Amino acid sequence: MSFRPGLVVLASQVRLDERRLLEAFEQRGAQCEHADPRLLWSLADDRTRRWHGVLNREIGQVRAVYAARTLEALGVPVVNDAASIEVCGDKWRTSLALVGAGLPIPRTALGLTPQAALTALDQIGYPALIKPLTGSWGRLIVQIRDRSMAEEVLEYVKALPGPQSHLVYVQEFIAKPGRDIRAIVLGGELLGAVYRIADGIRTNVARGASTQPCQESAEITKLAVAAATATGTDIAAVDLIEDADGRLLILEVNHRVEFSGFQQAMGDRVDVADRIAGYLIGRAERW
Ligand SMILES: Nc1ncnc2c1ncn2[C@@H]1O[C@H](COP(=O)(O)OP(=O)(O)O)[C@@H](O)[C@H]1O
Ligand SMILES: [Mg+2]
Repeated sequence: MSFRPGLVVLASQVRLDERRLLEAFEQRGAQCEHADPRLLWSLADDRTRRWHGVLNREIGQVRAVYAARTLEALGVPVVNDAASIEVCGDKWRTSLALVGAGLPIPRTALGLTPQAALTALDQIGYPALIKPLTGSWGRLIVQIRDRSMAEEVLEYVKALPGPQSHLVYVQEFIAKPGRDIRAIVLGGELLGAVYRIADGIRTNVARGASTQPCQESAEITKLAVAAATATGTDIAAVDLIEDADGRLLILEVNHRVEFSGFQQAMGDRVDVADRIAGYLIGRAERW
């Protein structure tokens, strides 16, 4: 009898990507269920391993980390794991990991207060971007055109409650050619790359950007795989940007890979859900 590992897709919301993933497991004949992390609890001394492998698709950052930690303590393979989610969920930690691995990123700084961020912005030069440390889908990214706009925006930032919101992530604005690049890496291997095309700064698919296949150059492959390794992610969506000289810079690494736009552009060349399912089944069998 073949080994049929009990696998789980952990997600508080089952959207199109999660549905595709669940179908992909089924098509591979693997027993996989959906579990809602909002209903999970666990006794600290409960050593029961209910699952053989977990695909962590939880959208809530804190829940995703704690669910992963809890399961990892039992020895369950969790993809992605808690350590990598913590790095990817924080743009500054991601920048430090990428720079630490010798990878190219736009000039980036973290101001520990809005006042320090103003000095950092002056150093980086205008226009620049302020990004939320923990955001995604292009949310709350502001283009700062000049110093007077920086002063105005930082005054708002200063008025926000809580010390976390007073940390200000600032980055050089890159005059990209109306697109950026999304590369997906799985188990250290590039699945492919697509252009995300949109008017304006934010080319997130969640904001309506269109996608087109992008020739996977040796440089894209090298940078995307190295970015996934630097952040410790088994599955990663790496965002890259081309500067005015055509040089590639890494923007961020997403641990919870949204792949509908990517899949649409790639067509028959790769089946992302199937590849992810195959990868988790492989990890669960090895364990
Ligand atoms: N330094 C930059 N210069 C120009 N565009 C940028 C820069 N940083 C991000 N962007 C664009 O903003 C959008 C969101 O960027 P990203 O850093 O990946 O944040 P998010 O986590 O919100 O997706 C993307 O379309 C990206 O191309
Ligand atoms: Mg992004």
